[in-house]
Amino acid sequence: MKTVETNLRRITLCGGGNGAHAIWALLARSCDAHLTLFLPLENEFREFTAVKKSGAPFRLSIKGEKTILSMDKLSLASDPEEAAAADLIIIVLPAFAHGPVLEALAPHLQPGTIVAALPARGGFEFQASAILDRYHCQDVTIAGFQTLPWACRIGEYARSVEVYGQKDKLRVATLPPGHVGAAVRIFDELLEPEIIPSSNMLELTLGNQGQLIHPGIMYGAFADKLNESYQEGEIPPFYQSVNERTAALLEAMSQEILEISKAIQSNFSVPLEGVVSISQWMLESYAKDIEDKSSLARMFQTNRSYRGLTVPVKLGDHNLYRIDVRARYLAEDVPYGLLVSRSIAELAGVNTPRINEVIEQTSRWMGAQYLVDGRLRGKDLAGTRIPQNFGLNSLEEIVELIA
Ligand code: NAI
Repeated sequence: MKTVETNLRRITLCGGGNGAHAIWALLARSCDAHLTLFLPLENEFREFTAVKKSGAPFRLSIKGEKTILSMDKLSLASDPEEAAAADLIIIVLPAFAHGPVLEALAPHLQPGTIVAALPARGGFEFQASAILDRYHCQDVTIAGFQTLPWACRIGEYARSVEVYGQKDKLRVATLPPGHVGAAVRIFDELLEPEIIPSSNMLELTLGNQGQLIHPGIMYGAFADKLNESYQEGEIPPFYQSVNERTAALLEAMSQEILEISKAIQSNFSVPLEGVVSISQWMLESYAKDIEDKSSLARMFQTNRSYRGLTVPVKLGDHNLYRIDVRARYLAEDVPYGLLVSRSIAELAGVNTPRINEVIEQTSRWMGAQYLVDGRLRGKDLAGTRIPQNFGLNSLEEIVELIA
């Protein structure tokens, strides 16, 4: 555990879910800055306030190691003005909540503040800069992380959290990109994983492997299982259900992302080295955990980190489980991930037939419409993070924003 003295005096953490529980507890045990938890949802603010007033301890369990924390020094805020009074604001929320939280904070942001999304998912840079511009926020740094570094779950709301695993490395990018060094220094002090700089935020958006893996496996491995019912204990594994056919789909989708990156780089001098193939990413991220590296399918099947992780399900009739097509793997990774890259492909003139197929099918399952006959013409595009929604209608405009 790092114990850090940072130059940051005030840090605000936004959110009341799993990740927010984990980050406040992890920072509370190691960091000397004043922490505020911003809970915009009334019921969550009430619940945290009641627990804090009761003086109950907060229990953090990280890989079995237990720490008891006091909430005495934690400030709780439901007022965005109070929450915005910080040197660093870390948003730990599902991507669909980034917009409302940024809209609430933006009128109150002070020059010099860093606003970081952990994780950013796709297109955070487009949405955040549009909102901050609208409120004339000056000298605010936007930062985004490629992933949440922990697998974590709330134990008891406002009282305990369990952190199951932690990634070794965490990629960060900033807007403006020149501020990435400062972000690396700050987060390297605050968080355990090694912080790796990305050249720019577009690299995070295109290099986000979750946008391929989650919708790709949901479609590739489970399209023909949506009507099946499972007993508890029989729910199929998620990542380890990847067979050769699903792996070929993932590789084809990954190749299409690489084509987008290549097309951008052939026209603009924008570094995108962090946009790598899915196989390279697997090998880099899980080198020690994979038993058989002979093919992508075998890498999924023999990756120890993926053991025990099952396909998302919801309880249906007769106490049986059905695959949940509205789960995060689609509801977040399509409109705030794969679709964003698909929209950039449109601007780059790159065809993405396999990505189109996955988006069209999975969005149909979710009851949403993004593509019509492979074109960006669906009626539900408005709520997504495609660059076109933020007035970015050419690669020039995107590159100008992120470079
Ligand atoms: P979560 O589902 O626990 O977060 C829900 C919280 O979001 C709510 O408790 C509330 O505080 C907030 N929220 C929801 N709607 C809101 C709104 N309209 N306005 C303001 N706040 C709102 O999510 P979790 O698990 O904390 O995940 C956060 C992010 O991290 C997601 O992008 C997720 O995909 C990612 N992630 C999570 C992992 C985990 O183990 N929990 C692992 C890897 C990634």
